[in-house]
Amino acid sequence: MYSKILVILLALGFFSCGPTAQVKETQQKKWWKEAIVYQIYPRSFKDTDGDGIGDIKGIIEELDYIKSLGVTAIWLNPIYESPNFDNGYDVSDYRAIAEEYGGMEAFDTLLEEMHKRDLKIIMDIVVNHSSWEHPWFKASRSSRDNPYRDYYHWWPAEKGKPNYRYSLFDDKGDAWAYDSITDAYYLHYFAKQQPDLNWSNPKVKEEVVDILKFWAEKGVDGFRLDAFQFAAKDTTFPKFPEGYEKDFIQYYAMQEGLHDYLKLMYDEVFSKYNVMSVAEGAGRNFKEAHELVDADRNELSMAYAFDAVDLPNKEGYSPKIFKEVFTKWDNEFSEKGWISIFLSNHDQARLVSRFTDDNEEFRAVSAKMLHTFLLSMRGTPYLYYGDELGMTNIYFDSIEQYDDISTINSYKKTLSEGGDGETFLKHASKFSRDNGRTPMQWNASEKGGFTTGTPWLPVNENTKTINVVAQNEDSNSILNHFRAMTALRTSNPVLIYGDYELLDTEDQIYAYLRSYEGQKVLVVLNYSKEDSTLDLSNYKWSDILINNYQDLETADGKAVLKPYQAVILKLK
Ligand code: GLC
Repeated sequence: MYSKILVILLALGFFSCGPTAQVKETQQKKWWKEAIVYQIYPRSFKDTDGDGIGDIKGIIEELDYIKSLGVTAIWLNPIYESPNFDNGYDVSDYRAIAEEYGGMEAFDTLLEEMHKRDLKIIMDIVVNHSSWEHPWFKASRSSRDNPYRDYYHWWPAEKGKPNYRYSLFDDKGDAWAYDSITDAYYLHYFAKQQPDLNWSNPKVKEEVVDILKFWAEKGVDGFRLDAFQFAAKDTTFPKFPEGYEKDFIQYYAMQEGLHDYLKLMYDEVFSKYNVMSVAEGAGRNFKEAHELVDADRNELSMAYAFDAVDLPNKEGYSPKIFKEVFTKWDNEFSEKGWISIFLSNHDQARLVSRFTDDNEEFRAVSAKMLHTFLLSMRGTPYLYYGDELGMTNIYFDSIEQYDDISTINSYKKTLSEGGDGETFLKHASKFSRDNGRTPMQWNASEKGGFTTGTPWLPVNENTKTINVVAQNEDSNSILNHFRAMTALRTSNPVLIYGDYELLDTEDQIYAYLRSYEGQKVLVVLNYSKEDSTLDLSNYKWSDILINNYQDLETADGKAVLKPYQAVILKLK
């Protein structure tokens, strides 16, 4: 009888002890959970040779600045050889660093200098597609029986036009491009200069694994897999329902085979070299997100979901929705899996211009609020270069000012479909990703200290006031608040591993508790241009850990929060 009970108790894990048995997956320690990632768009960071394009030497020169931010890892947008139709997201040699960035020698120095400073490096891997100038594609398009033919998706023209596929970047929205050399169509989910690789070909998989190994051998610490959720495709190319492009993710993302590709990468590279991995996108629902990142899946380290970053582009966006979305994602990942926390990147306009207010009255205080948020959530925070200064949109007003292929081609598409160019430009002025790509603002000079030449994209005129030099000197600057916030996160594991609990408050106030191993903090954000009152009588705090105003006004147990005020309280 007793032995039976014992067996049952054992089966239930009743006597299981030891640290791993008790710690839930979310709280199991990993360097990439504790990381604070700084994303650099290398083209725009710092130019040292006067060609108007940022380079690796520029990054090396600023490593001490980057270190001073308190970040622990750098994600670099692609710096491989590329004809740059999509600024590096069209790779023509996956093992070469572009000469304009300084070539491999510069990269090796960067790696060494970063590791010396205990900074990790995350490389962008673009293998849903290559450049049309990649030797594979050149060979593939040269004849129907070339050994590289099946590296890409081809549809012979004698079979008629293939079923419609939507392209995100094409000027006609068509993902099939006709190629007269072999009288066939090839597939490109992005621009026609970015043909999609055929992952159902085992040779393609082998090639990619080799490429990943090459970088892992060099000593990089992580990979960001660009657009990878689109990699698996039904190569019979069936007809999709009319109008599917309005929700194309449902048809493009997470198709059969994708998990096999990820598992292969995990087995051959991620696990062997102990590198972190994050793919762009997090599946089409929470279940799929978990299938990508739960530890027992052996696929990715963390997911990178778009629900939140896309919010300001949607009508009816409000602070209430903001907190609902983040709370939903957090709750889903409170036990297993891990997510990224971010509000900006190279595909978005600037943080303060989209989420809060870039007018001088509120720019600084609201940028500090957003950083307080980003650095106090559960999940790995990704911060985009220049946001630490509260850099703003540049607000172009004519199409000639743009460099971005997606903006330019969408404009052409709008016009060819009889759409209104003015309306398009008005929207692009606020939302085009070129807003987020203008050069880093190092100082108050005309070119912001970015280059001595002609910058590839104009430097925002407000570099006169918004720049590193000015903010370094000002103890009250966004930059110094950012540093204080990274320091706070790094020295308080509760901000990394702590459980999250949303407080029931008025819509414009976002308040949450984080608790971990007996430590408790309360984060309070007033996501509003007005004063807001919050009843705190149930909470006793010992310290204000950070505040983007000088004081926190309280009366009768209530806090009177100023516009965009953000505080973190250490609870007793
Ligand atoms: C991803 C990148 C984006 C790029 C596209 C095509 O979405 O983030 O910048 O243009 O993939 O590679």
